[in-house]
Amino acid sequence: MIALTAFVIGIWIGLTRIGWAFGSPPAPGTHGAIIVLGFLGTVIGMERAVAMNRTWAWITPLASAGSVIAMLTGAPSELAGALLLVGGVVLVGLFGVAYRIQPEAHIVMMGIGAGAWVLAAGTWLAGGAIPSLTPWLAAFLVLTIAGERLELARIIATTDTEKRRLAGAVAVVLLGSVLSWATLETGVRIAGFGNLLVALWLIRYDIARRTIRLGGVTRYMASGLLVGYGWLAVSGVLWIVSGLSRTSVAYDAALHTLFLGFVISMIMAHAPIVIPALAGLPFPFTPAFWAPLAFLQVSILIRVAGGLAGNFELRRWGAMLNAVALGLFLLMVIGTVIRGQRTKYVARIT
Ligand code: HEM
Repeated sequence: MIALTAFVIGIWIGLTRIGWAFGSPPAPGTHGAIIVLGFLGTVIGMERAVAMNRTWAWITPLASAGSVIAMLTGAPSELAGALLLVGGVVLVGLFGVAYRIQPEAHIVMMGIGAGAWVLAAGTWLAGGAIPSLTPWLAAFLVLTIAGERLELARIIATTDTEKRRLAGAVAVVLLGSVLSWATLETGVRIAGFGNLLVALWLIRYDIARRTIRLGGVTRYMASGLLVGYGWLAVSGVLWIVSGLSRTSVAYDAALHTLFLGFVISMIMAHAPIVIPALAGLPFPFTPAFWAPLAFLQVSILIRVAGGLAGNFELRRWGAMLNAVALGLFLLMVIGTVIRGQRTKYVARIT
């Protein structure tokens, strides 16, 4: 519930920041952090705690949820930063334990992703401005998602050379993110190049390129993944071009091709697997799920086109349509979970 609140308020903040006068949301400066570490941090933390089945692993989602409460109640920002730091450190520890049990590349990848979370929280605590957090927020999500794809064994690359190529791309992302502390634009350009390499690697090796030919939920998932990788590649180019300079006309497009195009497409694509795992409920897929996925893509295109053309009215409307796509998806997920609960209940009493 707290995660959901973080998401809804995060989007509300985003809409007001892009020019929609919808009252005054709490914590207006926290948009990116509250969605990435507050909402996604809690969800990813829960997913890992369920998978690892260790009581202490729940510290991560609890700390993330606590940070959301701290942000929204106007507590000193150090409290939110400290809670996020604790959540991130525990997550790194969790991957450390997981690696001892199962020394696999995907655990290393997600462990480094969790390390990026820790560094984002550290940058926050050190008083870094919000833009200086962005490369770390992005690295956390890019590496976590790439690691999850490896974990789901949906990647066909098996040779050491192919794995070394991915490691090289990840090293470029990390190098750029570290450099961004000293010189934001140069660091961001390098991190963007790394994201581009990761995207090309995923496009080349993810089995989604084959499974898109199948039908039903498999095709839906493969389409979401491939379109998301495409957006990650586009964002890589836009990071290189703009250096995420706030004065660049490409700033909004560079941010949201990654955070909406890549990340939210991934979430939509993985929903049929992640939601049953988290809620312990059946998740009957229906073709209606194509609607928010397709709508999201069109709305991002409108927002990006508006932004790059300097047409801020078009960009503002694109952002509103992004929110509509997200709202539609959320309502469909809630409806499906409620139906799943009913089915489970009926099955239990009959
Ligand atoms: C309807 C959806 C969204 C809208 C309207 C929106 C709007 C905005 C705006 C206006 C900015 C600030 C640009 C500036 O400073 O000039 C921004 C920044 C940012 N957004 Fe979004 N956004 C949305 C969705 C998302 C999502 C889903 C994520 C993460 C998954 C995200 C992550 C970020 C990040 C990391 C930043 C940079 C840090 C910050 O300024 O907080 N956004 N967004």
